[in-house]
Amino acid sequence: MAGISNRTKNLGTENAFVVLGEVNKRIAKGQNIISFCIGQPDFDAPKVVRDAAKKAIDSNKSGYTSSNGIPELRKAIAEYEGKIRGIEIDPDSVVVDNGAKPFITHSIMISTDYGKGDEIMYPNPGYPIYSTQTIVHGATPVPYNILESKNFNFDLEELKEKVSDKTKLIIINSPQNPTGGVLTKESLKGIADIAIDNDLWVYSDEIYQHILFEGKFESIASLEGMQERTIISTGVSKTFAMTGWRIGYIINEKLAKDFTTWVINTNACAGHVNQYAAAAALNEAGNDAKKMTDSFHRRRDLIVKLLNEIPGFRCLSPKGTFYVYPNVTKACEMTGIKTAEELRLRLLDEIKVAVLSDIHFGKKILSEGEHLRFSFATSDENIKKGTELIKEFIEKNSK
Ligand SMILES: Cc1ncc(COP(=O)(O)O)c(C=O)c1O
Repeated sequence: MAGISNRTKNLGTENAFVVLGEVNKRIAKGQNIISFCIGQPDFDAPKVVRDAAKKAIDSNKSGYTSSNGIPELRKAIAEYEGKIRGIEIDPDSVVVDNGAKPFITHSIMISTDYGKGDEIMYPNPGYPIYSTQTIVHGATPVPYNILESKNFNFDLEELKEKVSDKTKLIIINSPQNPTGGVLTKESLKGIADIAIDNDLWVYSDEIYQHILFEGKFESIASLEGMQERTIISTGVSKTFAMTGWRIGYIINEKLAKDFTTWVINTNACAGHVNQYAAAAALNEAGNDAKKMTDSFHRRRDLIVKLLNEIPGFRCLSPKGTFYVYPNVTKACEMTGIKTAEELRLRLLDEIKVAVLSDIHFGKKILSEGEHLRFSFATSDENIKKGTELIKEFIEKNSK
Protein backbone atom coordinates (compact mmCIF):
# COMPACT_ATOMS: atom_id res chain seq x y z
CA MET A 1 0.00 0.00 0.00
CA ALA A 2 1.37 3.44 -0.87
CA GLY A 3 2.46 5.41 2.19
CA ILE A 4 1.34 8.62 3.81
CA SER A 5 3.90 11.26 4.74
CA ASN A 6 4.83 11.83 8.36
CA ARG A 7 4.02 15.50 7.96
CA THR A 8 0.45 14.55 7.07
CA LYS A 9 0.22 12.01 9.87
CA ASN A 10 1.43 14.67 12.29
CA LEU A 11 -0.65 17.52 10.87
CA GLY A 12 -2.80 19.14 13.56
CA THR A 13 -6.28 20.33 12.84
CA GLU A 14 -8.98 22.84 13.65
CA ASN A 15 -10.97 20.91 16.23
CA ALA A 16 -14.07 23.03 15.81
CA PHE A 17 -14.53 21.25 12.46
CA VAL A 18 -13.77 17.83 13.97
CA VAL A 19 -16.27 18.28 16.80
CA LEU A 20 -18.77 19.68 14.33
CA GLY A 21 -18.39 16.47 12.28
CA GLU A 22 -19.12 14.42 15.44
CA VAL A 23 -22.11 16.61 16.26
CA ASN A 24 -23.50 16.31 12.73
CA LYS A 25 -23.18 12.50 12.88
CA ARG A 26 -25.18 12.47 16.11
CA ILE A 27 -27.81 14.78 14.58
CA ALA A 28 -28.04 12.45 11.55
CA LYS A 29 -28.70 9.58 13.99
CA GLY A 30 -31.63 11.55 15.37
CA GLN A 31 -30.04 13.07 18.50
CA ASN A 32 -31.31 16.51 19.40
CA ILE A 33 -28.09 18.46 20.06
CA ILE A 34 -27.77 22.05 21.20
CA SER A 35 -24.53 23.17 19.64
CA PHE A 36 -22.31 26.05 20.76
CA CYS A 37 -19.45 24.88 18.52
CA ILE A 38 -19.67 26.68 15.26
CA GLY A 39 -17.73 29.89 14.66
CA GLN A 40 -19.96 31.51 12.12
CA PRO A 41 -22.80 34.03 12.18
CA ASP A 42 -26.24 32.41 12.09
CA PHE A 43 -27.66 35.11 9.78
CA ASP A 44 -28.40 35.20 6.05
CA ALA A 45 -25.84 36.96 3.88
CA PRO A 46 -27.16 40.50 3.14
CA LYS A 47 -29.53 40.84 0.17
CA VAL A 48 -27.18 43.23 -1.66
CA VAL A 49 -24.55 40.49 -1.53
CA ARG A 50 -26.83 37.83 -2.97
CA ASP A 51 -28.07 40.25 -5.66
CA ALA A 52 -24.51 41.18 -6.65
CA ALA A 53 -23.62 37.48 -6.97
CA LYS A 54 -26.67 36.80 -9.15
CA LYS A 55 -25.74 39.74 -11.37
CA ALA A 56 -22.16 38.46 -11.63
CA ILE A 57 -23.42 35.01 -12.62
CA ASP A 58 -25.73 36.49 -15.25
CA SER A 59 -22.84 38.58 -16.62
CA ASN A 60 -20.86 35.34 -16.93
CA LYS A 61 -18.10 36.24 -14.47
CA SER A 62 -16.85 32.69 -14.84
CA GLY A 63 -13.16 32.90 -15.67
CA TYR A 64 -10.02 33.27 -13.59
CA THR A 65 -9.37 36.77 -12.26
CA SER A 66 -6.02 38.46 -11.66
CA SER A 67 -4.43 36.55 -8.81
CA ASN A 68 -4.47 39.51 -6.44
CA GLY A 69 -8.23 40.02 -6.99
CA ILE A 70 -10.54 42.08 -9.20
CA PRO A 71 -9.79 45.85 -9.16
CA GLU A 72 -13.36 46.67 -8.02
CA LEU A 73 -12.90 44.59 -4.87
CA ARG A 74 -9.36 45.77 -4.08
CA LYS A 75 -10.54 49.38 -4.42
CA ALA A 76 -13.51 48.72 -2.09
CA ILE A 77 -11.18 47.04 0.43
CA ALA A 78 -8.62 49.87 0.33
CA GLU A 79 -11.31 52.49 1.00
CA TYR A 80 -13.23 50.54 3.62
CA GLU A 81 -10.32 49.17 5.64
CA GLY A 82 -8.31 52.41 5.33
CA LYS A 83 -11.20 54.43 6.76
CA ILE A 84 -11.65 52.12 9.78
CA ARG A 85 -7.94 52.27 10.63
CA GLY A 86 -7.33 55.92 9.74
CA ILE A 87 -4.61 54.96 7.24
CA GLU A 88 -4.11 55.38 3.48
CA ILE A 89 -4.25 52.08 1.62
CA ASP A 90 -3.25 51.68 -2.01
CA PRO A 91 -5.44 49.04 -3.76
CA ASP A 92 -2.19 47.52 -5.06
CA SER A 93 -1.22 46.67 -1.45
CA VAL A 94 -4.27 44.39 -1.22
CA VAL A 95 -4.29 40.69 -2.13
CA VAL A 96 -7.50 38.63 -2.11
CA ASP A 97 -7.78 34.86 -1.64
CA ASN A 98 -10.31 32.17 -0.68
CA GLY A 99 -10.93 33.33 2.89
CA ALA A 100 -8.49 34.80 5.39
CA LYS A 101 -7.23 31.35 6.37
CA PRO A 102 -4.84 30.74 3.43
CA PHE A 103 -2.96 33.91 4.35
CA ILE A 104 -1.81 32.32 7.60
CA THR A 105 0.06 29.73 5.55
CA HIS A 106 1.25 32.25 2.96
CA SER A 107 2.64 34.50 5.73
CA ILE A 108 4.55 31.63 7.32
CA MET A 109 6.01 30.73 3.90
CA ILE A 110 6.96 34.33 3.24
CA SER A 111 8.61 35.03 6.59
CA THR A 112 10.46 31.75 7.32
CA ASP A 113 12.62 29.12 5.64
CA TYR A 114 11.98 25.38 6.03
CA GLY A 115 14.03 23.65 8.72
CA LYS A 116 16.22 26.64 9.57
CA GLY A 117 14.87 27.03 13.11
CA ASP A 118 12.97 30.22 12.27
CA GLU A 119 10.43 31.02 14.98
CA ILE A 120 6.88 32.31 14.87
CA MET A 121 5.21 33.66 17.99
CA TYR A 122 1.49 33.10 18.34
CA PRO A 123 -1.23 33.50 21.00
CA ASN A 124 -2.12 30.55 23.24
CA PRO A 125 -4.98 29.75 23.57
CA GLY A 126 -5.52 30.76 19.97
CA TYR A 127 -6.71 29.83 16.51
CA PRO A 128 -5.15 26.37 16.02
CA ILE A 129 -4.06 26.94 12.44
CA TYR A 130 -1.26 29.32 13.51
CA SER A 131 0.71 26.47 15.08
CA THR A 132 -0.32 23.60 12.77
CA GLN A 133 0.82 25.55 9.71
CA THR A 134 4.02 26.74 11.38
CA ILE A 135 5.03 23.17 12.19
CA VAL A 136 4.14 21.62 8.85
CA HIS A 137 6.09 24.31 7.02
CA GLY A 138 9.25 23.63 8.97
CA ALA A 139 9.34 26.58 11.38
CA THR A 140 9.13 26.56 15.18
CA PRO A 141 5.96 27.78 16.90
CA VAL A 142 6.56 29.79 20.07
CA PRO A 143 3.35 30.32 22.05
CA TYR A 144 2.80 33.36 24.25
CA ASN A 145 0.05 33.14 26.85
CA ILE A 146 -3.30 34.91 26.71
CA LEU A 147 -4.31 35.22 30.34
CA GLU A 148 -7.73 35.43 31.96
CA SER A 149 -6.13 37.35 34.83
CA LYS A 150 -5.13 40.03 32.29
CA ASN A 151 -8.61 40.22 30.82
CA PHE A 152 -7.42 38.01 27.97
CA ASN A 153 -4.36 40.08 27.11
CA PHE A 154 -0.74 38.86 27.47
CA ASP A 155 2.15 39.58 29.80
CA LEU A 156 4.47 41.89 27.88
CA GLU A 157 7.54 40.78 29.85
CA GLU A 158 6.86 37.11 29.00
CA LEU A 159 6.48 38.03 25.34
CA LYS A 160 9.70 40.06 25.33
CA GLU A 161 11.61 37.15 26.87
CA LYS A 162 10.39 34.80 24.17
CA VAL A 163 11.61 36.94 21.27
CA SER A 164 14.92 35.59 19.97
CA ASP A 165 17.23 36.23 17.04
CA LYS A 166 15.31 33.44 15.26
CA THR A 167 11.93 35.18 15.59
CA LYS A 168 10.58 36.26 12.20
CA LEU A 169 6.90 36.90 12.74
CA ILE A 170 4.56 37.71 15.63
CA ILE A 171 0.95 36.69 15.13
CA ILE A 172 -1.67 38.67 17.01
CA ASN A 173 -5.44 38.27 16.95
CA SER A 174 -7.81 40.89 18.29
CA PRO A 175 -10.74 40.55 18.92
CA GLN A 176 -9.62 37.05 19.76
CA ASN A 177 -10.78 33.50 19.13
CA PRO A 178 -11.40 31.67 21.53
CA THR A 179 -11.45 34.11 24.47
CA GLY A 180 -13.31 37.11 23.02
CA GLY A 181 -10.49 39.26 24.42
CA VAL A 182 -9.51 42.54 22.80
CA LEU A 183 -5.89 43.69 23.02
CA THR A 184 -5.54 47.01 24.78
CA LYS A 185 -3.82 49.93 23.06
CA GLU A 186 -0.98 49.41 25.53
CA SER A 187 -0.60 45.76 24.47
CA LEU A 188 -0.60 46.75 20.80
CA LYS A 189 2.03 49.42 21.51
CA GLY A 190 4.13 46.84 23.38
CA ILE A 191 4.09 44.50 20.37
CA ALA A 192 4.78 47.39 18.00
CA ASP A 193 7.90 48.38 19.98
CA ILE A 194 9.16 44.79 19.96
CA ALA A 195 8.51 44.45 16.21
CA ILE A 196 10.31 47.70 15.42
CA ASP A 197 13.25 47.06 17.77
CA ASN A 198 13.77 43.53 16.42
CA ASP A 199 12.80 44.23 12.82
CA LEU A 200 9.94 41.69 12.71
CA TRP A 201 6.79 41.21 10.68
CA VAL A 202 3.45 41.26 12.52
CA TYR A 203 0.52 39.20 11.23
CA SER A 204 -2.51 40.99 12.62
CA ASP A 205 -5.55 38.72 12.34
CA GLU A 206 -8.42 41.21 12.42
CA ILE A 207 -11.19 38.93 11.10
CA TYR A 208 -13.47 39.87 14.05
CA GLN A 209 -12.84 43.62 13.71
CA HIS A 210 -16.54 44.47 13.49
CA ILE A 211 -17.83 42.20 16.19
CA LEU A 212 -16.81 44.55 18.93
CA PHE A 213 -19.04 45.59 21.84
CA GLU A 214 -17.01 48.26 23.61
CA GLY A 215 -14.87 51.08 22.28
CA LYS A 216 -13.49 51.61 18.81
CA PHE A 217 -11.58 49.00 16.81
CA GLU A 218 -7.80 49.49 17.10
CA SER A 219 -5.40 48.02 14.57
CA ILE A 220 -1.68 47.76 15.24
CA ALA A 221 -1.19 48.99 11.67
CA SER A 222 -2.46 52.42 12.73
CA LEU A 223 0.44 52.90 15.17
CA GLU A 224 3.41 54.93 14.04
CA GLY A 225 5.88 52.97 11.94
CA MET A 226 3.69 49.86 11.90
CA GLN A 227 1.76 49.92 8.63
CA GLU A 228 4.78 48.82 6.61
CA ARG A 229 5.60 45.84 8.83
CA THR A 230 2.01 44.72 9.56
CA ILE A 231 0.26 42.13 7.46
CA ILE A 232 -3.35 43.14 8.08
CA SER A 233 -5.47 40.05 7.58
CA THR A 234 -9.24 40.21 7.47
CA GLY A 235 -12.21 39.47 5.23
CA VAL A 236 -15.95 39.33 4.85
CA SER A 237 -16.60 35.95 6.54
CA LYS A 238 -17.58 37.04 10.03
CA THR A 239 -18.67 40.66 9.50
CA PHE A 240 -21.19 39.97 6.74
CA ALA A 241 -22.20 36.35 7.51
CA MET A 242 -20.33 35.15 4.43
CA THR A 243 -18.14 32.33 5.75
CA GLY A 244 -18.96 30.03 2.84
CA TRP A 245 -18.29 32.65 0.19
CA ARG A 246 -14.57 32.31 1.01
CA ILE A 247 -13.29 35.83 0.51
CA GLY A 248 -10.48 37.12 2.71
CA TYR A 249 -7.57 39.45 2.08
CA ILE A 250 -4.32 40.86 3.38
CA ILE A 251 -2.98 44.38 3.15
CA ASN A 252 0.77 45.07 3.01
CA GLU A 253 2.50 47.22 0.43
CA LYS A 254 5.91 45.53 0.46
CA LEU A 255 4.65 41.95 0.50
CA ALA A 256 1.65 42.19 -1.87
CA LYS A 257 3.75 40.88 -4.78
CA ASP A 258 4.96 37.87 -2.75
CA PHE A 259 1.48 37.04 -1.50
CA THR A 260 0.27 37.20 -5.11
CA THR A 261 2.99 34.71 -6.09
CA TRP A 262 1.74 32.35 -3.37
CA VAL A 263 -1.85 32.74 -4.59
CA ILE A 264 -0.69 31.92 -8.13
CA ASN A 265 1.06 28.81 -6.77
CA THR A 266 -1.92 27.59 -4.78
CA ASN A 267 -5.44 28.77 -5.58
CA ALA A 268 -4.82 30.82 -8.78
CA CYS A 269 -7.42 33.33 -7.60
CA ALA A 270 -10.44 33.65 -5.35
CA GLY A 271 -13.87 32.75 -6.78
CA HIS A 272 -14.80 35.31 -9.44
CA VAL A 273 -18.51 35.68 -8.63
CA ASN A 274 -17.76 35.78 -4.90
CA GLN A 275 -15.40 38.70 -5.35
CA TYR A 276 -18.27 40.80 -6.74
CA ALA A 277 -20.41 39.71 -3.80
CA ALA A 278 -17.68 40.79 -1.35
CA ALA A 279 -17.33 44.19 -3.06
CA ALA A 280 -21.09 44.72 -2.65
CA ALA A 281 -20.83 43.79 1.04
CA LEU A 282 -18.09 46.36 1.68
CA ASN A 283 -19.75 49.08 -0.39
CA GLU A 284 -23.37 48.60 0.62
CA ALA A 285 -23.96 46.25 3.57
CA GLY A 286 -22.71 48.36 6.49
CA ASN A 287 -26.17 48.52 8.09
CA ASP A 288 -26.63 44.76 7.85
CA ALA A 289 -23.27 44.25 9.59
CA LYS A 290 -24.25 46.67 12.34
CA LYS A 291 -27.55 44.86 12.97
CA MET A 292 -25.71 41.53 13.29
CA THR A 293 -23.20 42.99 15.76
CA ASP A 294 -26.04 44.52 17.81
CA SER A 295 -27.64 41.11 17.97
CA PHE A 296 -24.38 39.45 19.10
CA HIS A 297 -24.03 42.17 21.74
CA ARG A 298 -27.45 41.34 23.17
CA ARG A 299 -26.74 37.60 23.11
CA ARG A 300 -23.37 38.15 24.78
CA ASP A 301 -25.09 39.79 27.71
CA LEU A 302 -27.58 36.93 27.90
CA ILE A 303 -25.05 34.07 27.78
CA VAL A 304 -22.60 35.73 30.21
CA LYS A 305 -25.42 36.23 32.73
CA LEU A 306 -26.67 32.65 32.39
CA LEU A 307 -23.20 31.05 32.48
CA ASN A 308 -22.36 32.97 35.65
CA GLU A 309 -25.49 31.48 37.25
CA ILE A 310 -24.10 27.94 36.80
CA PRO A 311 -22.38 26.73 39.99
CA GLY A 312 -18.61 26.61 39.53
CA PHE A 313 -18.61 28.65 36.28
CA ARG A 314 -16.90 32.06 36.10
CA CYS A 315 -17.36 33.91 32.82
CA LEU A 316 -15.71 37.20 31.88
CA SER A 317 -17.73 39.35 29.50
CA PRO A 318 -15.96 39.26 26.12
CA LYS A 319 -15.34 42.64 24.49
CA GLY A 320 -15.67 41.21 20.99
CA THR A 321 -16.31 38.12 18.77
CA PHE A 322 -19.17 35.70 19.34
CA TYR A 323 -17.24 33.51 21.77
CA VAL A 324 -17.15 33.21 25.56
CA TYR A 325 -14.44 31.32 27.42
CA PRO A 326 -15.73 30.56 30.93
CA ASN A 327 -13.45 29.20 33.63
CA VAL A 328 -14.94 25.90 34.80
CA THR A 329 -12.21 24.81 37.23
CA LYS A 330 -14.55 24.92 40.22
CA ALA A 331 -17.33 23.09 38.38
CA CYS A 332 -14.83 20.31 37.60
CA GLU A 333 -13.76 20.16 41.25
CA MET A 334 -17.36 20.06 42.47
CA THR A 335 -18.27 17.18 40.17
CA GLY A 336 -15.02 15.21 40.41
CA ILE A 337 -14.44 15.72 36.66
CA LYS A 338 -10.72 16.04 35.97
CA THR A 339 -10.53 18.36 32.99
CA ALA A 340 -12.56 20.70 30.81
CA GLU A 341 -12.23 18.15 27.98
CA GLU A 342 -13.76 15.43 30.16
CA LEU A 343 -16.55 17.84 31.09
CA ARG A 344 -17.12 18.63 27.39
CA LEU A 345 -17.46 14.92 26.55
CA ARG A 346 -19.87 14.32 29.40
CA LEU A 347 -22.01 17.32 28.39
CA LEU A 348 -22.21 15.96 24.85
CA ASP A 349 -22.96 12.38 25.89
CA GLU A 350 -25.28 12.97 28.80
CA ILE A 351 -27.20 16.17 28.05
CA LYS A 352 -26.51 16.60 24.29
CA VAL A 353 -24.92 20.02 24.61
CA ALA A 354 -21.90 20.54 22.32
CA VAL A 355 -19.09 22.95 23.24
CA LEU A 356 -15.31 23.04 22.71
CA SER A 357 -12.65 22.85 25.42
CA ASP A 358 -9.33 24.57 26.08
CA ILE A 359 -7.23 21.77 24.56
CA HIS A 360 -8.78 22.55 21.17
CA PHE A 361 -6.99 25.90 21.20
CA GLY A 362 -3.42 24.97 22.09
CA LYS A 363 -1.27 23.82 24.95
CA LYS A 364 -3.05 23.99 28.26
CA ILE A 365 -1.71 26.67 30.63
CA LEU A 366 -1.96 24.77 33.92
CA SER A 367 -2.01 27.89 36.12
CA GLU A 368 -5.07 29.18 34.19
CA GLY A 369 -7.32 26.24 35.15
CA GLU A 370 -10.03 24.66 33.01
CA HIS A 371 -11.99 26.43 30.27
CA LEU A 372 -14.75 25.72 27.78
CA ARG A 373 -15.50 27.72 24.64
CA PHE A 374 -19.07 28.59 23.67
CA SER A 375 -20.00 30.25 20.39
CA PHE A 376 -23.10 32.36 20.97
CA ALA A 377 -23.83 32.63 17.27
CA THR A 378 -27.03 30.75 18.01
CA SER A 379 -30.59 31.56 19.05
CA ASP A 380 -31.66 32.95 22.46
CA GLU A 381 -33.71 29.80 22.85
CA ASN A 382 -30.61 27.57 22.47
CA ILE A 383 -28.63 29.80 24.83
CA LYS A 384 -31.36 29.57 27.49
CA LYS A 385 -32.01 25.83 27.07
CA GLY A 386 -28.31 24.85 26.75
CA THR A 387 -27.18 26.78 29.85
CA GLU A 388 -30.17 25.48 31.83
CA LEU A 389 -29.22 21.87 30.97
CA ILE A 390 -25.60 22.48 32.02
CA LYS A 391 -26.75 24.02 35.30
CA GLU A 392 -28.90 20.97 36.05
CA PHE A 393 -26.00 18.66 35.10
CA ILE A 394 -23.55 20.37 37.48
CA GLU A 395 -26.10 20.49 40.31
CA LYS A 396 -27.01 16.81 39.84
CA ASN A 397 -23.37 15.64 39.70
CA SER A 398 -21.94 17.82 42.49
CA LYS A 399 -20.51 15.73 45.28
C1 LIG B 1 -9.00 33.91 14.35
C2 LIG B 1 -9.47 33.47 13.01
N1 LIG B 1 -8.75 33.80 11.93
C3 LIG B 1 -9.11 33.41 10.70
C4 LIG B 1 -10.26 32.68 10.49
C5 LIG B 1 -10.60 32.22 9.10
O1 LIG B 1 -11.45 33.10 8.45
P1 LIG B 1 -11.97 32.78 6.99
O2 LIG B 1 -13.29 32.11 7.11
O3 LIG B 1 -12.09 34.11 6.31
O4 LIG B 1 -10.96 31.92 6.30
C6 LIG B 1 -11.05 32.31 11.59
C7 LIG B 1 -12.26 31.48 11.42
O5 LIG B 1 -12.80 30.90 12.32
C8 LIG B 1 -10.64 32.72 12.89
O6 LIG B 1 -11.35 32.40 13.98
